[in-house]
Amino acid sequence: MSTKQTENATVTVTPVESLYGEIELPGDKSIAHRAALFAALARGESLFENFPGAQDPLTTVKCLAELGIEYEYAGRTLWIQSSGLYYFREPYQTLDAGNSGTTMRLLAGLLSGQSFPSVITGDSSLLRRPMRRVIKPLSIMNARISGTRKGTAPIKIRGAKRPLRSINYELPVASAQVKTAILLAGLYANGTTTVIEPFPTRDHTERMLGLPVKKFGGKNYISVHKMIRIPPARMVIPGDPSTAAFFIVAALITPASEIIVRNVSLNPTRIAFITVLERMGANIKIFNKRNPDGEPVGDICAYSSQLRGCTVEGALIPFIIDEIPILAVAGACADGFFEVKNAEELRQKESDRINSVVTNISAMGIRVRERDDGFVVEGGTLRGGISLDSFGDHRLAMASAIMGLAANNEVTLTNMNAAAVSFPEFMETIKTITN
Ligand code: S3P
Repeated sequence: MSTKQTENATVTVTPVESLYGEIELPGDKSIAHRAALFAALARGESLFENFPGAQDPLTTVKCLAELGIEYEYAGRTLWIQSSGLYYFREPYQTLDAGNSGTTMRLLAGLLSGQSFPSVITGDSSLLRRPMRRVIKPLSIMNARISGTRKGTAPIKIRGAKRPLRSINYELPVASAQVKTAILLAGLYANGTTTVIEPFPTRDHTERMLGLPVKKFGGKNYISVHKMIRIPPARMVIPGDPSTAAFFIVAALITPASEIIVRNVSLNPTRIAFITVLERMGANIKIFNKRNPDGEPVGDICAYSSQLRGCTVEGALIPFIIDEIPILAVAGACADGFFEVKNAEELRQKESDRINSVVTNISAMGIRVRERDDGFVVEGGTLRGGISLDSFGDHRLAMASAIMGLAANNEVTLTNMNAAAVSFPEFMETIKTITN
């Protein structure tokens, strides 16, 4: 057995001889946030299966309950009943988005269109993250919204006096959260609101709300107009590809390994990390492709592979933004150099992910150089025999644990409870595939 967990969330991971088996993961976090939010906008009952029990998406559900929706959650099934987009009630207390940037930014869009006041706060990590990117466009739409002088949360919304104003807004940062916040506010605006994406990002909002997307000059134009009624939904939420990435890389970098991850979202805006890994020489097979609820789904099988480094940059970055920590681990085990450019956005995540990735990979005995907008990893041997911290960041926690599986010596991981933000069963799932 390779893992030992103590109460203070310190975990020891020992190297494995191989990884083998089949797993199925909880539903995708991005889809889950939207499923709950859009069900709250709909009039009637919505039902979602495989809704993840992770902290982040449940935070969204709890905030929506403060706004008057009814819900029940048991055995990964979420039932939501709402009266529709004009029937939210003023919350009794400050809404707490916890660690979840998606909850905070999407709610900011929805609440901007309401006539009542509200305040959204979060944990110490979320209170450091940039919110001007949503406050600015929502203010242009006439929302009465403000943050701190530093442009951070708590976000205060005074309540709209009249319908919002529609805008055409070109995103200065590639962000699906900002895009969605503006489109949600657009549901309450007179006229047509259009978000222009110079660098396309994940497209779950467009798919789930059925919004028209036009492509012109390499940019995406996504439009929404005032809506009176949104239909309730039923959906089986496909497995989270960003979580699958940890297990796929684990199989690639450990000897004699073969892991199948069943029923994963194959949304093209989410699985570019597979293309990157294939460029690095990864042996990955995708099968059972289907399209049940408007989101492509399939099974992914990954085998031990000899990897080589590559460079990731430009328009690819928004499509792999959440997988860069685990891609860096693949790079640390590859021949040659793995280089990340144009990814300054990583510094704005749950931790400064350029610095935290560089810190943990170099602590494992790998040569890595930090840059303003990324890093360069020179592949080598993961030494281990040390302690790594999660920086309170779920993806750092999981990426560091995967390094421990492929290292020469055991690794002690502190603050592993951070993994619960996206996948509380992470360590148990690793145990099921460890030989
Ligand atoms: C998300 C968008 C991305 C991503 C985050 C989830 C979403 O953030 O990093 O984990 O569900 O819209 P940004 O929009 O800030 O890039």
